[in-house]
Parts: sequence; structure tokens; C-alpha cells
Amino acid sequence: MANSQYGYVRLAERDDTLLPSTYLVVRIDGKGFHKFSKRHNFTKPNDLAALRLMNHSARNLMMSDAGQTIVAAFGQSDEYSFVLSRSTTLFLRRESKIVTTFVSMFTSYYVRLWSSYFPQSPLEEQDDAPSFDGRVVQYPLRSEVIDYLNWRQVDTHINNLYNTTFWALVQQGGKSPKEAHAALQGTVSADKNETLFTQFGINYSKVDPIFRKGTLLLRTSMTTESASVTSGPIVTVHEDIIKPSYWNQSDRSKVFPT
Ligand code: GTP
Ligand code: MG
Repeated sequence: MANSQYGYVRLAERDDTLLPSTYLVVRIDGKGFHKFSKRHNFTKPNDLAALRLMNHSARNLMMSDAGQTIVAAFGQSDEYSFVLSRSTTLFLRRESKIVTTFVSMFTSYYVRLWSSYFPQSPLEEQDDAPSFDGRVVQYPLRSEVIDYLNWRQVDTHINNLYNTTFWALVQQGGKSPKEAHAALQGTVSADKNETLFTQFGINYSKVDPIFRKGTLLLRTSMTTESASVTSGPIVTVHEDIIKPSYWNQSDRSKVFPT
């Protein structure tokens, strides 16, 4: 029945095949997590269980059939970026198919794992369905993918330093949110570090690296006895990935081939 009188409707479908030989980065972001995190009493400024739930969901996606060509992923707050290998042929590189599958699989894992991370705060049936949006960006170069990840880690740092100082001023310093906001206006990183240390005895560099650096999931490659390369275990790190030497170290140099 391919050529029935109705077949023409397929002509309205839009081709959304992504460019060949580009790294594909799928970034997903929690919808309305400002409200959602309040409803479920996420700890301020960072909730460790919430981050671990994101990391677990991301890892499950990387281990699924659809996630086999994800070479690295970076997560912070309510977002995760998944980098697919430049040569991936996943879903014939069709954009909608990739994004919608990633978003729905991630959401599914998130909801399924929720109760093991938040046993005290069950999801309600009404109006309480965590959901994520998603987009794809394409980068031809290794250096661009690395800059992309650097951009996300800089964002992690800026937000976390601000939030850590803001909530110290409110929770320990007795300021109202409005006063804390005003106190931080126009400050640079050094000022916030100073405030944290002198007023609250917090050495920012000692704050848990998962909060300061975000989470990088890396698929390592293993060379088998027959010298063929297969995908190895996924490692989790909370490290400074911005320093120029980071991606040149032997165990990571092949994650993004030039
Ligand atoms: P949209 O993404 O536009 O739908 O809005 P959003 O409300 O999700 O905001 P956005 O993605 O810009 O930011 C994520 C928000 O989630 C933060 O502003 C926080 O309010 C909240 N959030 C994320 N992680 C944590 C956490 O660990 N603790 C707390 N307390 N809140 C968090
Ligand atoms: Mg969000």
C-alpha cells in the first residue's frame, strides 16, 4: 500500500539528518527544576542524591544499546551533555530520533531510579512528572568538543561559587535572600572566596569536587589481546578538565580523536 492515495502525506516529513563526520553533543535539561527541586526539598545549594540520580541515569543511558556510541558525558545541576563519536551512525544520524530517544530514555531511568535516591519524597501522580528537554549541537573538531565541555565546567564553577556563597550568607549569615543577592552584586570570584573563608570558615577549594567540577563520565577504550579496540568500562571523575593537558594524557587522548 506504499503508493496509496494517502502516501503523499509522507512528503511533508522533514529530513533532519545531521552532518556526517561531526561530533554530536546532545544536551538535556530538566524542565522547571527550580520548582521541582523545591517540592522535593533538594538540599541547597547542592543536593548530592539529586546529582547521583542524574549520574546514574546518564550512566544507564551510556550502557544501553542506544548509548553505545556516547564517548563522554558531562553533568551538573539538572543538565547532562552526551558526546557521540564523530563516526556514529546511530539512527542514521537523524536528529529528532536521537534527541527524543535520549530524552525519553533518560527520563525513564530518572523516574525508575527516583525512589532509591529519594525514598522519603515519592513522586506524586498529579503534576509531578520530572521531564527534560533536549537539543543537538554539531562540532567538526576535537578542539571544539573540548571547548564545549570547558564551557559547561566554567558554568558549573560560576554557578556553584555563587550559590555556595549565597546560601552561606542566608543560612549561616542570617541574611534575607534579597540582602544576600545585593551583597553579591558586582563581586568577582576572589571576593566570594574571601567571604566564604573569613565569614564562614569555608575553604572553597575543599568543597566536594562533584559540586565544584561537575561529573564527567568517560568511556575508556581497552586494547584486547588481538589488538582490536573495544569499549571498556565507564569511569566517573570530578576533575578539572579545563587545564590544557587534560585530554592529552594517555588514558584520555583517544576519547576525541583529531
Ligand atoms: P527550565 O530549564 O527553563 O525549565 O527551568 P529550570 O527551573 O529547570 O531552571 P534551570 O534549568 O535554569 O536551573 C536549574 C534549577 O534547578 C536551579 O536554578 C535550581 O533551582 C534547581 N536545582 C538544580 N540542582 C539543584 C540542587 O542540587 N539543589 C537545589 N536546591 N536546587 C537545584
Ligand atoms: Mg532546567
